[in-house]
Amino acid sequence: MKRLIIGNLKMHLLSPIERDRYLDTLEKELKGKKFPNAEVVICPPFVHLEAFKKRLGKKIHPVKSPTSRGAQQSNRVKLGAQNVFSENKGSFTGEVSPMMLKNLGCEYVILGHSERRKYFSETDEEVNRKSLGCLKNGLKPIICIGETGIEREMGETHKIITRQVKEALKNVSRTKAEELVLAYEPVWAVGSDNVPESNETLSAKLLIKKIITGMFGKKYAEKVRIIYGGSVSVKSTKETCVDPEMDGALIGRDSLVPYEFIKIVEIINN
Ligand code: PGA
Repeated sequence: MKRLIIGNLKMHLLSPIERDRYLDTLEKELKGKKFPNAEVVICPPFVHLEAFKKRLGKKIHPVKSPTSRGAQQSNRVKLGAQNVFSENKGSFTGEVSPMMLKNLGCEYVILGHSERRKYFSETDEEVNRKSLGCLKNGLKPIICIGETGIEREMGETHKIITRQVKEALKNVSRTKAEELVLAYEPVWAVGSDNVPESNETLSAKLLIKKIITGMFGKKYAEKVRIIYGGSVSVKSTKETCVDPEMDGALIGRDSLVPYEFIKIVEIINN
């Protein structure tokens, strides 16, 4: 299974000029590099999706290879969104639908990010509806779960993870397992420079595995990718992602700096 590395650009890149500067730098950093073991996804704000697609869709860093196709494919950067609504169309002012994202060339969507749960009161039920909406339209949901600092202090980490995973995956068919990504993002680690010890992350991963095995059965549960997010940096990648053998990483701040982001991709790829 390839490692999945996702850049969450959040609400940054405030103008077309800033966006193009970012894309130029990313292109430069990717040039001539190969990541055969990694799938790289960037999730820009909605308003930049089309421009990113135009640039990223054109193999932004052609790598010369004798067998070319496979290698070039593996180096393409894929597109994701940071949120979506559950319905496909209608009178839902201000919302963006799964089909719109699919038609723009998105493959992934981040759902239930802790910032959405905190600032927009997003509930487990909504995350579930959005997950089902994505899967129905061929989009792969990246479902964020994780405990807050207070919940951690109260020893509720496992209880929170269990609830969030079970609720998010309600009525999801196990045949969709391959399309599912669960991102363990301890809320206290997001944007903080604090990270869990690798055995804490490993224990969360094993718990998530156990829950989905109970829901889907072993054969299907093995196909679900479980990644880590929260203050992933070049310095913390080993402890947060490599040592606990996570299937990848969700990166916020450091994905805004292509040099750092690609360094992390390289560490995880190797
Ligand atoms: P961070 O963000 O890497 O800046 O901590 C992670 C995230 O929000 O997904």
